[in-house]
Amino acid sequence: MLSELFAAHVVVPSGVDTGGFWLPRQGSTTAASVDALFLAVTWIGIFFFVLITAVMLYFVWKYRARPGHEAQASSDHNRPLEITWTVIPLLIVIWIFWEGFTGFVNLATPPQNAYEVQVLGQKWKWLFTYPNGVVDDNLHVPPGEPVRLVMTSQDVIHSFYVPEFRIKHDAVPGRYDKAWFQASAPGEYRIFCAEYCGTSHSDMLAKVIVHPSRGEFDKWLSDAGNFIDKLPPEKLWEGGQKLYNQRGCRQCHSVDGAAGIGPTFKGLWGHDQPLRDGGRAVVDENYLRESIVNPQAKIVAGFEPVMPTFQGRLKDKEITAIIEYIKTLE
Ligand code: CUA
Repeated sequence: MLSELFAAHVVVPSGVDTGGFWLPRQGSTTAASVDALFLAVTWIGIFFFVLITAVMLYFVWKYRARPGHEAQASSDHNRPLEITWTVIPLLIVIWIFWEGFTGFVNLATPPQNAYEVQVLGQKWKWLFTYPNGVVDDNLHVPPGEPVRLVMTSQDVIHSFYVPEFRIKHDAVPGRYDKAWFQASAPGEYRIFCAEYCGTSHSDMLAKVIVHPSRGEFDKWLSDAGNFIDKLPPEKLWEGGQKLYNQRGCRQCHSVDGAAGIGPTFKGLWGHDQPLRDGGRAVVDENYLRESIVNPQAKIVAGFEPVMPTFQGRLKDKEITAIIEYIKTLE
């Protein structure tokens, strides 16, 4: 009942199990030990709060001012009592430190054989890059294997947070950080950004999708790598648009005419482009293909030769798809 009330006020991507009112469900192999320490600290705190408050109230009542009782100074010193209430709390905090520290070291040390995924935070979405170059905005992982996340940010500090896995790690621009997890069961888990990063911070949502088997994960990965091959010719430009967003074109080339590090794609097709060396070039298929594969060949006037080559990073058909997309941007 309470959990329903609570859930009604939390915006959650549909189709995702949120867990209960108290703690989210335990979705990773390390969640149980994190929860155990959290609960231990909480209950120790509650135990001593109740104990000390009760004793204090009892003394307030017992030693209250009343006729026939004089206040008197006491210099009594009870050594066993002093030692007891110093040593017991000391042992408790040493234990809490030890448990917390070993847990921290474990969470900060990905296993050697972990499957690696690159995580990029940007305003305002997450991008996940797989070993074969596939980029997706959800995190797909195989079941029963540790996954190492190598994360960074393109702009400001974001924080990668999966409550059900009990992991939260900052993605910081100009720096690579590592985190890891092993999901305990196939299914979907929510990803949040836990560092305020601007207007759409609260929309920076994604999912971890833990596939039912390694085989199904591999199939997803190879399909995602070949999605462009499955598009009918009239839809190829949509694939190009997806690649534009995922492969980094967007960071330098606008599609609305806005100035950028590189020329805008708006109205580019068929344009007679003035070059840096004084020449000119008409923007056709050959020009665009050359600019993607060998960007230094023709530099547009007013721009620096800073574009990296996409030779070997984009397949032929992917380049065609991007060209088709540019054609649509009149
Ligand atoms: Cu990204 Cu908040």
